[in-house]
This record gives sequence, structure tokens and C-alpha cells, in this order.
Amino acid sequence: MMSLRGEAVVLIGFMGSGKSSVGRHLAKRCGLPRYDTDEIVSARAGLPITEIFAQRGEDAFRVLESEALAQIPVEAAIVVTGGGIVLRTENVRRLHQIGLVVHLTADEATLFERVSRRATRPLLETENPRSTLSELLRVRDPLYRAAADFTVDTSRLRHEEVAEAILTKLESLRQTAPADSHE
Ligand code: S3P
Repeated sequence: MMSLRGEAVVLIGFMGSGKSSVGRHLAKRCGLPRYDTDEIVSARAGLPITEIFAQRGEDAFRVLESEALAQIPVEAAIVVTGGGIVLRTENVRRLHQIGLVVHLTADEATLFERVSRRATRPLLETENPRSTLSELLRVRDPLYRAAADFTVDTSRLRHEEVAEAILTKLESLRQTAPADSHE
């Protein structure tokens, strides 16, 4: 079993990049608690994310999302975030307090194919979801990259393989860095 030396692995990335599934895998594999900002928001509001957007709007959701992130304890854990977490700089600061920030990415066609499987993404409920995705990705990709300690392309990998790639990368970082250093 992998020890994470007291800090979390935080997954960020666009909708459909695999954060939730990979997060579940990692948590199980490492025997660690898992925190998911969308799950926390939804549980606290007593509503699914789609309903929060419909009834209260995106701005209200973002406030709840930052509150959820702020309440996640700093401990060895797997933390899964919503795709918009990097939109607020206060969130990005918090992500780095919580742990090592891993960016999951995938090519646009793959992301679109994955998000099209279920209608759970209010931001993509537009006339042309394909171009909305493209535009959101254009704006956000630099934010994910700036916030990330490293990036894993999940386009051609199964969830278990992504989890494996993350653990391998963590191991190599650990061997090259002093025990308690991380940006
Ligand atoms: C959002 C992504 C969603 C969820 C909400 C907003 C976004 O999470 O937080 O619908 O702004 O990209 P996933 O990335 O898990 O789909």
C-alpha cells in the first residue's frame, strides 16, 4: 500500500477527464479517504448539481464549491474537484495547501464523447455543446496547467492505468525531492 506522507493527491481537470473514477480507484488502491467537492456541495445543499445550477445559478454554486474545498481537511487523502475549481485563485491556493495537484487531461474529442454519455453537466446544456466545450477548454486549459504539479493524459488509458501512472509519478517525485518539500 502506498503512503502519501500526510498530504493528499488532488485531482483537477476538465469535465470528462476521469477525475471521479480515477479518484475512486486511487482511494481504494491506497486505502485512503476520498473527498469530492461536487459530492460535498450536493450533500450540503441537499440537491443534485444540476438543480443547484437551475435553481440558484453558477455564481451560487461557485460559492458553495469554495466552501466545500475550504472544509476538506489537510490529510493523506484523495481529493476530487469539479472542473471549474481553478476559476478562483483562492481555490488554487487551497488546492496546494491540501496536497499535490494532479491535472488529468484528454483530447477534446475524447472529453466530448465522455461527457455526452450522461446529462449531468449543466454548463454544457447549450445549443451547441461541442463548441461550448471547446471554448471552456480554451479558457481553462492554461489554468489547469498553471495550477498543476504534473499532468496525465487519460485519452487512451483505462482508469486503473491512470491511477498507476499517478502513483508511479509520485514515487519518482519522492525519490528526487526532499521528504517534506513540495510547492
Ligand atoms: C463544472 C464541472 C462539474 C461540476 C459542475 C461545474 C465545471 O464537475 O462541478 O457541473 O465548471 O466544469 P465535473 O468536472 O466532475 O464534471
